[in-house]
Amino acid sequence: KTFYHSRCGHGYNSKVVMPVFKKFAVIGSPIDHSLSPKIHSIFARKLGIEITYEAIEVEPMHFDSSVNRLFDEGYAGLNVTLPLKELAFNFADELTEDSNLSGSVNTLWKEDGIIHGDSTDGRGLVRDLQEKKINLKNKEIVILGAGGAAKAIIPSLLREDPKRISIGNRTLVKAEELIESFSSSKNKMNLFEMSENLNFKPDIIVNSTSAGIKNEHIELPRDLLSKDIYVYDLSYSQEDTPFLELVKSRGIENYHDGLGMLIHQAALSFQIWNNQTPNISISKVELS
Ligand code: ATR
Repeated sequence: KTFYHSRCGHGYNSKVVMPVFKKFAVIGSPIDHSLSPKIHSIFARKLGIEITYEAIEVEPMHFDSSVNRLFDEGYAGLNVTLPLKELAFNFADELTEDSNLSGSVNTLWKEDGIIHGDSTDGRGLVRDLQEKKINLKNKEIVILGAGGAAKAIIPSLLREDPKRISIGNRTLVKAEELIESFSSSKNKMNLFEMSENLNFKPDIIVNSTSAGIKNEHIELPRDLLSKDIYVYDLSYSQEDTPFLELVKSRGIENYHDGLGMLIHQAALSFQIWNNQTPNISISKVELS
């Protein structure tokens, strides 16, 4: 919905109608390379609505004051990215179930003076997998990494009723803590050491580690990557991450990077803020 306000111009009785676009932004640090401004602008353009969407650098220590200021300045909604998702979770007055379960917020908006928070990452991932015809029911899922990204997707993955979700992490105690935080689903969760053999065969592997952003390799169980599995890397960059390079070198043909999830989580935020469903077909070329 585009809002207009009219105000008197210089001449008597002249009324200039000024369009007031809804303002949005993604906040994080670093934020330069975020694709969210492009994605949201494409959504809006295709729907024929006018918005502005900026990328704003916010450091963790300035989170509360910055977010309060942005809402005071009239921003209708904010996306939140690394390393601020947990701070946003603590900041919001009202949280959705997904956000509560995942301890994370990537979408903020203000309604009647109340700041609401949702986490659309997990639903975004599941929607992308559905679109790619990857069914999770009764599947043996492995998640690499036990940080915020893993926690954000687990509630949505559990809802799809997989056989089991096994977490492998360089620091084992973090995998243990992560499983503890989903105590009601403990019977569906498992952990393993990256330095040992897996000794079971996964159907789907999701890489949630931040190794890719740092261009680092991940130590993996030697028997993890067999040819007929499906691999999803949550991270997205123009070039393949070292992890996806390794996956390809093992002859695995069924794999995707996180672009689809990025677009779907954005679409879910857009829908919350604008009450309209955007067209999610965006090509890599449009984003380059
Ligand atoms: P995020 O919010 O992106 O998940 P995070 O909470 O800092 O960020 O978690 C990063 C995850 O990537 C962790 O599971 C981390 O493993 P550790 O807990 O052992 O630190 C994992 N990770 C990062 N770099 C890695 C690497 N080079 N090899 C293996 N795991 C790595």
